[in-house]
Amino acid sequence: MHSQTWKSMAMAALVVQLSISMGVDSSSPHPDKIVRLPGQPHVGFQQFSGYVTVDNNEHRALFYYFVEAEIDPESRPLVLWLNGGPGCSSLGLGAFSENGPFRPEGRVLIRNEHSWNREANMLYLETPVGVGFSYATNSSSFVAVDDEATARDNLLFLQGWFHKFPQYRSTDLFIAGESYAGHYIPQLAKLMIGINKKEKLFNLKGIALGNPVLDFATDLNSRAEYFWSHGLISDSTYKMFTSACNYSRYVSEYYRDSVSSICSIVMNQVNTETSRFVDKYDVTLDVCVSTVFSQSKFISPKQVSERIDVCIEDETVNYLNRKDVRRALHARLIGVRRWEVCSNILDYEFLNIEIPTFNIVGSLVKAGIPVLVYSGDQDSVIPLTGSRTLVHRVAKELGLNTTVPYRVWFAGKQVGGWTQVYGNILSFATIRGASHEAPFSQPERSLMLFKSFLEGKHLPEIF
Ligand SMILES: *[C@@H]1O[C@H](CO)[C@@H](O)[C@H](O)[C@H]1NC(C)=O
Ligand SMILES: *[C@@H]1O[C@H](CO)[C@@H](O)[C@H](O)[C@H]1NC(C)=O
Ligand SMILES: *[C@@H]1O[C@H](CO)[C@@H](O)[C@H](O)[C@H]1NC(C)=O
Repeated sequence: MHSQTWKSMAMAALVVQLSISMGVDSSSPHPDKIVRLPGQPHVGFQQFSGYVTVDNNEHRALFYYFVEAEIDPESRPLVLWLNGGPGCSSLGLGAFSENGPFRPEGRVLIRNEHSWNREANMLYLETPVGVGFSYATNSSSFVAVDDEATARDNLLFLQGWFHKFPQYRSTDLFIAGESYAGHYIPQLAKLMIGINKKEKLFNLKGIALGNPVLDFATDLNSRAEYFWSHGLISDSTYKMFTSACNYSRYVSEYYRDSVSSICSIVMNQVNTETSRFVDKYDVTLDVCVSTVFSQSKFISPKQVSERIDVCIEDETVNYLNRKDVRRALHARLIGVRRWEVCSNILDYEFLNIEIPTFNIVGSLVKAGIPVLVYSGDQDSVIPLTGSRTLVHRVAKELGLNTTVPYRVWFAGKQVGGWTQVYGNILSFATIRGASHEAPFSQPERSLMLFKSFLEGKHLPEIF
């Protein structure tokens, strides 16, 4: 498994080059084409997966899984999907648990009726190196990885990916993701806009951010009110959690290894009252839907282990660790023994969480890129209140007026959530009843919101 086949990689690269120069030839299969995933039902769309190297000497490579749109892929947009963490896998979370075409169930894969490839070509990227099947041959590459390096590698990935799939170069490109991708996505988009100023390489048409970390203090400190208003903590604890030690202070101290006694007292009280038996990513759920939903381990430092303690079985982890599955995906384990949902070897600069990105979102809007910020409204990790405040702040700073006043949107006959649009370019929407991983818990509503976003409509149809 660990013997590296650089020669065959070079060969694969050569094959790609040849097929490019000969034009797209459907009779010779793409080297990254997935023939069939083990246990997969018959489908009419194509899937691809493999590696794109992000350095010259092929020592670091990012793994992707690409699912073509179910119908008419040539006329559908391309969506890059990123999960957060930092260090969690878009393959395990995004593709196989949230909005991809299949979900593992025992030995087989079942169809997800609300897969986002009903609307778009979906590209899932495991990033940065050290996450999932993405690898580096020198373990020093996993040390002190930060937002800047991640954005740079993501950009190199996209450039390399377009080499493999030149037919998608001019397709409308959207970037969507969750949680810590509130850092990854704006930072990547900013680099793309910079490049586009010199040469228009990226046809970027919009970004969508789900329960994103956009501002450390605003996002984290909205937790106290969320807990209190949902009845998870007492009045007196709420008071302490907002005045004596707020959550951003606690997390900031935690990552500096200097938790003060007051913060320690407050957090103990908060944890005691909220209890371990409620899922903080969806306060209406009992614990342990799945171990894969731990992508915010850096945002919620102590909660990850709790989740893992009570969750024994996990379909996605089991599936992606099967040898036959790995073979079908053209994936390799290099420097790790198992595929993990969130990397154990990546040593990310935690304190990067304190870097604000809502201002980058503002600059993207200013550059004409439509932005949707959406919130699963049952999430207490990045609650809707913080995100709504931040979107409003961005709109205000840019002088964007409300073009659609705050109101409900519908999914079928039911309220899908609430929304507000500013300047016809910046929108905020909630997804009613959804968790931190909205497409997992409210697949139909999430797909509907996503579809309207791709169509540039801002709002799903009113019933
Ligand atoms: C790994 O990278 C470090 C830092 O760049 C370098 O000093 C070291 O020699 C490298 N190790 C190998 C085996 O290439
Ligand atoms: C959180 O605590 C920090 C440090 O004590 C303080 O500067 C900040 O204003 C507080 N934020 C909120 C929203 O209370
Ligand atoms: C926004 O609203 C204000 C107050 O109604 C108005 O003066 C301003 O022209 C509007 N701006 C735009 C860009 O429409």
